[in-house]
Amino acid sequence: MSFDIEAVRNDFPIFEQTTRGKPLVFLDSAASAQKPRPVLDAMWELYTTSYANIHRGVYELSERSTAAFEASREKVRRFIGAADAREIVFVRGTTEAINLVAATFARARVGSGDEVLITHMEHHSNIVPWQLLCDQAGARLRVAPIDDRGALQMDEFEKLITPRTKLAAFAHVSNALGTVNPVRELVELAHREGVPVLVDGAQAVPHQAVDVQELGCDFYAFSSHKLFGPSGVGVLWGRAEHLEAMPPYQSGGEMVLTVSFEKSTWNDIPHKFEAGTPDIAGVVGLGAAIDYLTGLGLDAVTTYERTLLDYATHALEAIPGLRLIGTAPHKAAVLSFALDGVHPHDVGTILDREGIAVRTGHHCAQPVMERFGVPATVRASLALYNRESDVDALVSGLQRVREVFR
Ligand code: ALA
Repeated sequence: MSFDIEAVRNDFPIFEQTTRGKPLVFLDSAASAQKPRPVLDAMWELYTTSYANIHRGVYELSERSTAAFEASREKVRRFIGAADAREIVFVRGTTEAINLVAATFARARVGSGDEVLITHMEHHSNIVPWQLLCDQAGARLRVAPIDDRGALQMDEFEKLITPRTKLAAFAHVSNALGTVNPVRELVELAHREGVPVLVDGAQAVPHQAVDVQELGCDFYAFSSHKLFGPSGVGVLWGRAEHLEAMPPYQSGGEMVLTVSFEKSTWNDIPHKFEAGTPDIAGVVGLGAAIDYLTGLGLDAVTTYERTLLDYATHALEAIPGLRLIGTAPHKAAVLSFALDGVHPHDVGTILDREGIAVRTGHHCAQPVMERFGVPATVRASLALYNRESDVDALVSGLQRVREVFR
């Protein structure tokens, strides 16, 4: 499928404006992506024609709202190749998905002396829930190291899987480095020792096709807002047998079948994990985002972005005093860097004056910063609506930074 970048950009109303009097150059999609018109339209249409609470009303509006919500569940199922729509749990985002698994599945498995294995490249949301769990259970958090390019040291990961390991959790794609992990191989290593695996897919799903059955993991989590959908919605995919066996997470309406003061019983999956009224329009918007991406063709997106990443990597490598952080052989969408003698926040501020949006800081991955000996980096992250001229603008912006700090 060919990829028409100008047509894609026209789908995103945000690019019709200027910022700081300059055309917007948006290079912060790893933090949150912009939204195409079909997503905004789908939410508008739901609110203006079919909105009511779901799974409750016997009237037509509620039936329509419920049908739109459940249609999104089926879209997510197809999008990630899950076997069954009952395995798709709607949550607030990747963070909540990981907390859900930590508080239910993992809490029941992890005891005193046990271990949870993560990697050195994780986002805080795939560190802290396990740290809290380990503290509560008297267990130990083990961390598989990464090399100087930011690639996972597979042999060390393998060595850290022992009979004490009760769960492994790692990112599909690192938000701070862009490293793409070999998920299937890692899952095989873990499963060989009977260790279940959670994959944080937040930075992967906007850039490449994902098939959870092919990856073989036990849980896969991602957020809508990085996938060109609305914020406040995310997905936990889990194997049905795990979800069936897990106790509820949050409790209240919707997740119950019967309630009495003596005892309550739980609804079937996935509803057992969806207490309270969900973000109905958000879920519908996520479904529209998936339709949009599928319409473009994820393979075409991956190919387009790979060429753009190569272009950007060469352009940044040519800048004197710029050090790219994260140069793993298999990378996606992210260019983190430090500029000699200039604090990343100053770089970000000067770029902003040129209309260029990048993220500066530790990117919720402080251990990664510590591993590379920097307090922070500048991070330019690419998405399907970026083009070579955005990279050229970044390079000119960095020349401007040099002039200011000469
Ligand atoms: N996790 C998001 C990022 O990497 C917020 O910027």
